[in-house]
Amino acid sequence: MTKNLTQSEQKALVGKYAVDQLIEQKRIFSGMKIGLGTGSTAMPAVERLAERIKDGTLKDICAVATSFQTTIACENLGIPVFSMNAKEIGGHLDLAIDGADEINPKKQLIKGGGAALLLEKIVAYNADSFVIVADQSKDVASIGTVFALPVEIIAEARVPVIKALEQLGATCTLRQGVKKAGPVITDNGNLILDLLWKSAPDAAQMEAEINKIVGVVENGFFCKNIPTVFVAHADGTVTER
Ligand code: 5RP
Repeated sequence: MTKNLTQSEQKALVGKYAVDQLIEQKRIFSGMKIGLGTGSTAMPAVERLAERIKDGTLKDICAVATSFQTTIACENLGIPVFSMNAKEIGGHLDLAIDGADEINPKKQLIKGGGAALLLEKIVAYNADSFVIVADQSKDVASIGTVFALPVEIIAEARVPVIKALEQLGATCTLRQGVKKAGPVITDNGNLILDLLWKSAPDAAQMEAEINKIVGVVENGFFCKNIPTVFVAHADGTVTER
């Protein structure tokens, strides 16, 4: 019978599948330093990693978490979690695994739907290999016109930053909190702007341009460390590219 998995079933499937597959292919092995992403697709991967540590398949794993969400998950699941700066990590990771909001055919990404883009990028850009897990809805033809690009900014620079971003053709919306009056405050104490363009920008060029604006901390285009992407489909299959 053909399966018809929901989006959350696809997320659960791909997180588990990717970790098992990477262990099978010896791309995850004992002693590795692994960056762990944020969000509802990264979490099943974190949980599967914890299971494979618990069953003895993986030993001496050192993790770096990309958010409070992931730190708490690691603490609850018994995954040893360190700062990027700890001597166990030394500022460099063997692998990072994370979710994404959008993936284009060049495997350029938008990330930061969960407002964790800054640590996610620090982890992804300091890892030898980068793996993305996603449900099929994330696989899109172009990025920047449908899912708004998150940009983390210093609160005091909000107005000049918005003006400079508008010069780059973007429409900006200050992200608002849920069950919190006023704007979202990131794990780093900053604000998030969500940016949309009328037509898709050159993501790699825009990633660099946005970061030149004084008051921008980081943006959610990820174009530098091109990932291996695992995508789960409604029919229950997972593809890797
Ligand atoms: C958080 C992220 C997430 O990886 C991204 O938003 C995807 O989230 P989900 O897997 O919940 O759809 O970048 O900042």
